[in-house]
Amino acid sequence: MSITFDGRVAIVTGAGGGLGRAYALELARRGARVVVNDLGGARDGSGSSDAAAKVVEEIAAAGGTAIANGASVTDPEQVEAMVRSAQETWGGVHILINNAGILRDRSFAKMSADDFRSVVEVHLLGSALCTKAVWEIMRAQAYGRILMTSSSSGLFGNFGQANYGAAKLGIAGLARTLHLEGAKYDIRVNTIAPTAATRMTEDIFPPDMLALFNPDNVVPAALYLVSEDAPTNMIVGAGAGVVQATYVTLTQGYALPEGRRTVEEVAANWDRITDRSGEIVPQSGAEQAMTILRALQATQGTSSAT
Ligand code: NAI
Repeated sequence: MSITFDGRVAIVTGAGGGLGRAYALELARRGARVVVNDLGGARDGSGSSDAAAKVVEEIAAAGGTAIANGASVTDPEQVEAMVRSAQETWGGVHILINNAGILRDRSFAKMSADDFRSVVEVHLLGSALCTKAVWEIMRAQAYGRILMTSSSSGLFGNFGQANYGAAKLGIAGLARTLHLEGAKYDIRVNTIAPTAATRMTEDIFPPDMLALFNPDNVVPAALYLVSEDAPTNMIVGAGAGVVQATYVTLTQGYALPEGRRTVEEVAANWDRITDRSGEIVPQSGAEQAMTILRALQATQGTSSAT
């Protein structure tokens, strides 16, 4: 069964190049009307250009429908104007891919407060502002598909990317709560952690890997996550055509017995606390609270039986 986006309106931020461009081209090829957003700056966020207009030309040349938008995702007024223009032109917004991003890599020791703030602002605040701008529309139409862009640097850590990693794990956290708040309105929120050869990673990939890590190889997973039958609340890794799911898990843990709630008891039971057998994937923070209560009940059962 082929998956189409006929009748859907999609906004892709940072779509003037790299992954965003690849998403926008394929969404348009599959029938979506696409807002190609990009400020068109350099990798560190400085300057601007008409990168978005060039991608719109490519889409039009291939027979698709798109409009260019040069809003900075960090500017609430520009973002609201972008969403308004999509709605006025096409009558709704069904898909948002928060993809815009910049890099200011340095070891934490050398990182300035400005390097930290700018990166968090574009990635995390930018994703929140764009999502906020489409949120009411999606709630009112009882349909929305939102894709956040995280990174292995946020999920697992990466030397020299404290700012970027903090923003990227923050984005995954944003998705977690928005999924809960949007569920009633069929707003599904997923997170992708891509790996692709773009200008962002141009210093990393050896030349013989460039074709393998073409952004096109991330597109299938990204588009599935914003399709009609998309899952929700997933964190998905995608690169070179390999698609993976990643989870935040919780161990069964160990309830410190009453009267022995001491540092020494934690130290003595560290292996038990971190034992991964029987670990679960909580679907909300409340679920963790329930596991705490269950663990306590279990110890009370044990202490009354003994
Ligand atoms: P890219 O640099 O080609 O794309 C990012 C785009 O965002 C650029 O076109 C840039 O002009 C735009 N942008 C930056 N600041 C903006 C702003 N304030 N407003 C609007 N647009 C803005 O790099 P790439 O690799 O395509 O990155 C896309 C996303 O994927 C980013 O969020 C990045 O962090 C993420 N990512 C990429 C990985 C990779 O292996 N390429 C790995 C993990 C995450």
